[in-house]
This record gives sequence, C-alpha cells and structure tokens, in this order.
Amino acid sequence: MSPSARLVPASASRPGDDPIFALNAEATSRAAAGESILNSTLGALMWDDGRLAVMPSVFEAFRRVPPEIAAAYAPISGSKAFLDAIREDLFADSALGKYAVAAATPGGTGACHHALVNFLEPGQKLLTTSYFWGPYAILAEHTRRGVETFAMFAEDGSFDVDALEAACDKLIEEQGRVLLFLNTPCNNPTGYSLDDHDWERLIPVLAAAAERAPVAILLDLAYAKFSAPDSTRWTDHVERLLGKATLLFAWTASKAFAQYGARVGALVAVEQDDEERARIKNAIGYSCRGTWSNCNHLGMLAVTELLTDPALRAACDAEREKLCRLLDERVQVFNELASKAGLAYPRYEGGFFVAVFTPNAKKTSEVMRERGVFVVPLQTTAVRVAVCSTKVDDMPRLVDALVAGIAAS
Ligand SMILES: Cc1ncc(COP(=O)(O)O)c(C=O)c1O
Repeated sequence: MSPSARLVPASASRPGDDPIFALNAEATSRAAAGESILNSTLGALMWDDGRLAVMPSVFEAFRRVPPEIAAAYAPISGSKAFLDAIREDLFADSALGKYAVAAATPGGTGACHHALVNFLEPGQKLLTTSYFWGPYAILAEHTRRGVETFAMFAEDGSFDVDALEAACDKLIEEQGRVLLFLNTPCNNPTGYSLDDHDWERLIPVLAAAAERAPVAILLDLAYAKFSAPDSTRWTDHVERLLGKATLLFAWTASKAFAQYGARVGALVAVEQDDEERARIKNAIGYSCRGTWSNCNHLGMLAVTELLTDPALRAACDAEREKLCRLLDERVQVFNELASKAGLAYPRYEGGFFVAVFTPNAKKTSEVMRERGVFVVPLQTTAVRVAVCSTKVDDMPRLVDALVAGIAAS
C-alpha cells in the first residue's frame, strides 16, 4: 500500500510550521548571525532585556501544592475549588455567577474547542470578527466546523454592528443557530476593545437574534487582565442577555498569570434555565473526558491558591500590576509615535497586540524584514505588531519600519 494513502485525505494536507513560529525562527537565526533584529512577532510579555516576564508568586503557589495531591488525576471537569475561584474572578460583582457552570480546559484554546463541539453541529460555522486569532479556524476545521466572519470595522473605524447583524441573520437562515466568538477586551490581533458605546449597540442586535434562534456568545477573555479600566465593564452589558442567549467565557491563566505553558483555563457557561444549565454542565464535562480527560492538576491547584489565599493573591496582583505598567508604557509610546507618523490602526488602549492597516500586508512585512524588523502579516490589509515583546527603546525603529513598509506597499 502506498505510504501516501495512510493518512485520511484531510490529514494528508495539513500545513507544517505555524507561520508566526516560522517568522520567529528566521528572526532568531538572523540575530544569531550577528544582525540587529527587532522581533515584534512574539505573543508573550517580555521584559526589556528579552526574557519572558514571569510572576514569582505563581511559582510560590506551585511550590505550596503537596506533591501527592498534585500528582493525582484531577476531577474530569476540574476541581470544585478551582471552578468556584474562576467564577468569583469573573463575576465577583455580577449576578451572572449564580447561573454559571464550568469545566477546566487547557487554556482558552480548550474553552474554544468545547464551545465549538457543543454549540454547533458538524458542518456549521462559528461567527467572529474579520480580524481574528488564527487558531479559531484550525479548531473549527479540526472539529469539522467552519468560520464565518463579519467586517470588524465600519468606514469610520467603529465596530461594525450592522455587519454583525447581517451575518447573524445569514447564519440563522442557513444553519438555524449562532455561536459568536468575540475576543474583547484587547482583541488579538487588532488591539481593539469594545467600549460602552459599542456594547450599547451590540446587545439589542444579539438579543433580537436570540429571539429567533439559539444563540451562544463566547467572550474570549485571554487578555482581559491587561485591558484599560473602561473596557472591563463587559459583565454589566452581557448581563442584559441573561435568559435570552447562552453566555460563554473563555478564561485562561496563560497571560493573566504569565503561565503560557501550564495550560490552565476554563470554559464558563451562564444559562438562566436550570435544566438547560445542568445539560450544559454535563455536555462540557463529557467533552473533557472525550478529549484530554482531565487538565493539569498542579496548575489548577496553584491557580486556586493564587485566587483564594489573600496574601498570595495580593502579591500576585502587585506583580501583575507591574506587568500591566510595563505594557501600558509601551502602548502609550506606540500610540504617540504611530499617531505622529500618521499610521492607521484601530483604537488601542491596552493589550498585547495592535494591527496597523496597509494596502499590502505581505509587501509591508517583507520591506520591514529587509530592515531587520519582524511583524506578522494578517490576511491582506494589516500587519500585527506585538507590543508585548517590543521595548520602549525599540518603538521608534518599529514605527519607522512600519512607515517605510506601508509606503512601499
Ligand atoms: C485571542 C486568543 N484567544 C485564546 C488564546 C488562548 O491561549 P491559551 O490557550 O494559552 O489560553 C490566545 C493565545 O494566544 C489568544 O490570543
């Protein structure tokens, strides 16, 4: 039998390296050869000296976990204390917590997976913004689902609620249900955060859609702890959908605790109807068993400790505050230089990334690469800048390269 027939056809044509990791590999090898390289592709918060920013209190929490407990299997859906702590972290001041059920997942990625397989049939499409985190499409494809997008920004740069409404109508017509992924605050890749005004326009549209078909809305909160204070009021807004739509929240420790590799996260589902809520709890727990069985127990126990032990929590909050200040300073300097240089980009108040618009993303990134500056080309019309891994001193070079790259496009 020919070796080319051993994989099923869909698996035989999978791409190899992730494009961002490929760009990073080129940046690293050119830097190793002695070139001055500015690598603004990496999606992790780095200190100015290029080391990964970590939080000592998190390692203290890991150390406190007794080995014989950490080494045991975790409950399939995650330990109750962990899930309660996440619920409190998300909904401390909101009525939503009363109606929440949850399952532990390996990061926000796992939460997205569980949303896909439980709120869409195979062949159906999730709905998200035209600029979106690439792995949504991989998760959808891998689970035999698809992705439909709506134009994220209107002509005037505002969030395009009309486009969202039209896309909801289309999907209700075509597949009789909607699963919407919204990555806010601090959207990856654009940096955009929905503000009160955006939510005010969005909620009635979603409520109207939910009257006509089952609607589930997943808020991907991957970067929420790094947002500007004004964009943290999402609970107040989505509360208005309680009883109408299912609200899903992808919670992750990856950025919030600078623990990208620990794979600690949760899918939290808010549903007002008691019976439906019980069914959702069972369904997402079943999905845990049917995928990774159970999650990193040590990580889960440590994060529970970080969220519930007052002294550890205070230490952790103070360390995160320091990381937020590091990032905020970069965001501010980027905004100053980029607006002075006339770059076009969405409203950017915080978060790891920002997207800069260009007529030709590929050309822009090529020209920038020739100057030793690496950014990620997005579709055709923007490049993604990782402010999280670009120190303030490098911002002038980054912005100059963006100007040159866009001028050449
Ligand atoms: C928008 C977005 N969602 C979710 C994730 C999930 O990350 P993790 O699975 O590490 O929580 C990421 C990570 O980069 C992301 O950028």
